[in-house]
Amino acid sequence: MSRAPLKIAVLISGHGSNMAAIARECREGRLNARIGIVLSDRPGVAGLDTARAMGIEARAIPWQGAAQRGVFERSLEAALAEVKPDLIVLAGFMRILSPQFVASHAGRILNIHPSLLPKYTGLHTHRRALEAGEREHGASVHFVTAELDGGPLVLQSRVPVRSEDTEQSLSARVQKTEHIIYPRVIGWLAEGRLTWRQDRPWLDGHPLLDPVVEDFSADRN
Ligand code: GRF
Repeated sequence: MSRAPLKIAVLISGHGSNMAAIARECREGRLNARIGIVLSDRPGVAGLDTARAMGIEARAIPWQGAAQRGVFERSLEAALAEVKPDLIVLAGFMRILSPQFVASHAGRILNIHPSLLPKYTGLHTHRRALEAGEREHGASVHFVTAELDGGPLVLQSRVPVRSEDTEQSLSARVQKTEHIIYPRVIGWLAEGRLTWRQDRPWLDGHPLLDPVVEDFSADRN
């Protein structure tokens, strides 16, 4: 029996290229999922326009400062309740969600982070990787827990760092892989290959103890 499409809510703060990559995979039938809503904590960002141009409902829930996190999260919950998503996808979403919010959606929030976690949590990951003289870098898709960039890893992309790299060239190389690995993980969930049980991810019936790593070093860019 075929499965119902996975219903997704995507949270963004800016450009929305990961959101658009996921939306394209859905539209082209390569991903058995549907984006029900795109929500941004910043009004007027490009990702909202991109979503609307693709026929996806998109709204801003303006962030009013950390002291108002509770108000923000109540508005977020209200918008999510309209859609009842199976999965919340953080795609360039720059706010930290409260432990309460995360706990109430345990196993149903994914994030993508531009580094080979656990290396380089937080900001400016490409610059820091270059400064440290890393030979390889990448991106990580992980389940979200209360620990910032610390939830269980699912899939990582690995790219080479080249001697001529700038922050921009390295960022572009990593982002290209993000657009491949994020839809892939969502596809695993949609197919039921990836599940969340006993507070941890399982892939193909086994606890996922280490992330799957996809090596993009053969790509010439
Ligand atoms: C991505 O590089 C992602 O890893 C990070 O923020 C960036 C968002 O880009 N969390 P976009 O908004 O999806 O284009």
